[in-house]
Amino acid sequence: MSEQTTTTHDEQPAAADRSVAHAGDLAMLFTSDYKRYVIRVHPEGVTHTHLGAFRHDALIGQRWGATVQSQIHHQALLLQPSLTDVMKSVKRGTQIIYPKDAAYIVHRLSLHAGSRVIEAGTGSGGLTTALAWAVMPTGMVFTHEVRPDIYQVARENLARLGLLPYVKMFVTDIDDGFKADDVDAVFLDVREPWHYLPAARKALRPGGFFASLLPTANQVIELLNGFDRHHFADVSVEELILRRYKATPDRFRPDDNLIGHTGYLIFARCIDAREDLARWQRPERQRYEARMRTQAEIEAQAQERADDIAAGGKKYPPLPLPD
Ligand SMILES: C[S@@+](CC[C@H](N)C(=O)[O-])C[C@H]1O[C@@H](n2cnc3c(N)ncnc32)[C@H](O)[C@@H]1O
Repeated sequence: MSEQTTTTHDEQPAAADRSVAHAGDLAMLFTSDYKRYVIRVHPEGVTHTHLGAFRHDALIGQRWGATVQSQIHHQALLLQPSLTDVMKSVKRGTQIIYPKDAAYIVHRLSLHAGSRVIEAGTGSGGLTTALAWAVMPTGMVFTHEVRPDIYQVARENLARLGLLPYVKMFVTDIDDGFKADDVDAVFLDVREPWHYLPAARKALRPGGFFASLLPTANQVIELLNGFDRHHFADVSVEELILRRYKATPDRFRPDDNLIGHTGYLIFARCIDAREDLARWQRPERQRYEARMRTQAEIEAQAQERADDIAAGGKKYPPLPLPD
């Protein structure tokens, strides 16, 4: 993360010493009561915590993993924050996607440096942080948020984390379409994502990735029906349950609190609209459709017979039932 470099005799910039903190680095003060302060190190900066103020000029040049002291002599570890720490540090204007879900979304959308991804809504920028982290330095996140106040929260979060160069932010209603095209992936965290499948299809490169996170099962069913209407295949619905443990060797056991449900994760691929979608549906789905077709044929034949009989037309032999 450090942008500070030194210069050698032949003017080649030397790599910064990765073992110590530099001005401009993203850092974390980790206190003994497990509080985390994610900060941007600045020569004149001061971070105020519940254990006193930490002057940044005293952090610069310190080794990562070393203990540093506040002005009132409380201690903290100086660490480089993980992406989980960074996501948890965003100021909240909305609920944010949990790091466990964000990590899996990045993986399933196959994002890497250079990827182009559309997101809506931005919310507090929790997921945007993970997306930008994955696609930088050569990719781009195009994120859309309808509420100007929430957009501002996300913008400040992303600026503080130094991620704005990798994010184009739009204050807009996605009812009016997305502001990017030729993207590798679209991720929607809005209430009714099925309305935006035609726009997603338009923006995605052929075969691109689509994903959404939805809290309720009835929303998932609407989205599944939308995939049928708009030619999305390779559909899966998944849910991640993360179980934490008390990391104490003498009393190692599960944490008392388990977060039961965060959301359903739905993934699909945008296939060519000329393809026969039925061929590419899951085998259990194809079996279900075949059963439904057979059932409909049986019902139609029964109805035809009943109509004939009612009209005094065709006579059917009595069934050979026992007396
Ligand atoms: C649950 S929040 C997203 C949280 C975000 N994924 C995060 O991790 O921080 C949903 C956001 O979508 C925005 N939103 C809802 N409908 C929208 C629309 N039609 N166009 C753009 N943004 C929309 C809401 O204002 C809200 O901020």
